[in-house]
Amino acid sequence: MAYRIAPSILSADFARLGEEVKAVIRAGADLIHFDVMDNHYVPNLTVGPLVCAALKPHAGVPLDVHLMVRPVDRIIPDFAKAGASIISFHPEASEHVDRTIALIKENGCKAGLVLNPASPLSFLDHTLDKLDLVLLMSVNPGFGGQQFIRSVLPKVSEVRKRIDKTGRDIWLEVDGGIKTDNIAEVAKAGADTFVAGSAIFGSKDYAATIRQMRDKLAVL
Ligand code: DX5
Ligand code: ZN
Repeated sequence: MAYRIAPSILSADFARLGEEVKAVIRAGADLIHFDVMDNHYVPNLTVGPLVCAALKPHAGVPLDVHLMVRPVDRIIPDFAKAGASIISFHPEASEHVDRTIALIKENGCKAGLVLNPASPLSFLDHTLDKLDLVLLMSVNPGFGGQQFIRSVLPKVSEVRKRIDKTGRDIWLEVDGGIKTDNIAEVAKAGADTFVAGSAIFGSKDYAATIRQMRDKLAVL
């Protein structure tokens, strides 16, 4: 199993964002997780395509854009132009989920669907074959530094089964409350890609934290 670690810049020092992105890539990040919030779909406001485009030249790894915005379609081409590699959205924020997936792909990006802790897996029934990534939230979206919601673990296992049945290389990412002491458990449930914001950017030594995470994954 190839595991990927995706530091979320939500917990980075925004006054030094370019430096933070470079530092976390030097420290071993596989992706940069970019949280977009609109104070509408979620009660917080973060960054848009302008900041994504500004970071792109400093990001030697794929930009993993997590849209927590409603409506979602209008902004997708802007993020594609701004250098996003993966664009994920919440089905509840789209009027036409299949159309939004198609739009992401037409714009040359990989498409991900994000399910909140209380969102049913039935959202995957007619979409999984078209997706490149499923992102399961292990906190309610809107803020970094929240507590991991354990009831998401059986959901991770169930999605892993569904992905394996397709025979396609669909990434299974988990987002929220991931730390060095629970990453192994989340991997055992079936995740292969791990978002970590406060655990990495809140630590003194990013490389040491990412190394500790990889050490936990290496012995599985
Ligand atoms: C929450 C965001 C997460 C957040 C994770 O809405 O989608 O990506 O940054 O932060 P931690 O790892 O601190 O829970
Ligand atoms: Zn996120």
